[in-house]
Amino acid sequence: MDIKAYLQKRKILIDRSLEKQVPPAKTFPPAVHEAMRYSLFAGGKRVRPILALASAEALGAPVADLLPIAGSLELIHTYSLIHDDLPAMDDDDLRRGRPTCHKVYGEAIAILAGDGLLNMAFEVLSDPRRLKAVPAGRMLAIIRELSTASGVFGMVGGQVVDIQSEGKEVDFPTLEYIHTHKTGALIRSSVRIGALYARAGKRQFTALTHYGEMVGLAFQIADDILDLTGTQEVIGKDVGSDLKKDKKTFPSFYGLEESRRRAVEVAEKAVHLLKDFDRKADPLRELAKYIVQRVN
Ligand code: IPE
Ligand code: IPE
Ligand code: MG
Ligand code: MG
Ligand code: MG
Repeated sequence: MDIKAYLQKRKILIDRSLEKQVPPAKTFPPAVHEAMRYSLFAGGKRVRPILALASAEALGAPVADLLPIAGSLELIHTYSLIHDDLPAMDDDDLRRGRPTCHKVYGEAIAILAGDGLLNMAFEVLSDPRRLKAVPAGRMLAIIRELSTASGVFGMVGGQVVDIQSEGKEVDFPTLEYIHTHKTGALIRSSVRIGALYARAGKRQFTALTHYGEMVGLAFQIADDILDLTGTQEVIGKDVGSDLKKDKKTFPSFYGLEESRRRAVEVAEKAVHLLKDFDRKADPLRELAKYIVQRVN
């Protein structure tokens, strides 16, 4: 299959759905709505919502009603990027090929735009109109899944240890904790949300969960590599940001070559975990490969 074409088509569907979820820029108070839209529509890859769609698709579920649910993953992800770039965190000036949110709107509005996106994700999910397509019990499981993955037991926890490990000697389990939590948790959750929506069986859910874990780890190793080897024009972010902050990354532990080898190995494990799935899981298989080969 042509993964590039698949990604492009899916991205269009997600963007169209997000456009409907997020209020117009002129909504009162406009500063925060403008800032939310500025970061959300700056052109992210939409990998997390696409993983949710591909996961449901692997189980044979039609995805139309999953689009707003998948979009909520992108709302959370974009909030995390706005906060990640703040001077108190990674202090970066460029994101998705544009000046970072706080550079344009100031720190206070950037923080609030992040808060706005985070809460909007749960507003979208808990909208009663959604319950025609997804019964309340299943939606509650999805909400629980997303909130846990985004919070202190997931992404927030990972971000805390990432910040606390700057400039320090840490062991490999700590590095692994950072990667599997700051990035891995939301990616795993994306796959699981697609599976919950599609009413996966127990064994399918377990296999998809482990697939999500592998893809999440591989995704952050690739991100670490791109921070060193990418160009600003292509990655749309500041290059060398991790070195500047003495971050704990796979290349800082193992060097570039070994990190590349490990990323490929982890992605291969992800593909292997789908061995009992049929051709409908091909997008998930291709996504695992794309995630380590990507250039941005
Ligand atoms: C960047 O995520 C931050 C990480 C968690 C590694 P992406 O590489 O998915 O960024 P966008 O959404 O495409 O901008
Ligand atoms: C970010 O990790 C993880 C988040 C939760 C946003 P990074 O700090 O490495 O992400 P980039 O490189 O700034 O996109
Ligand atoms: Mg960071
Ligand atoms: Mg960062
Ligand atoms: Mg990075």
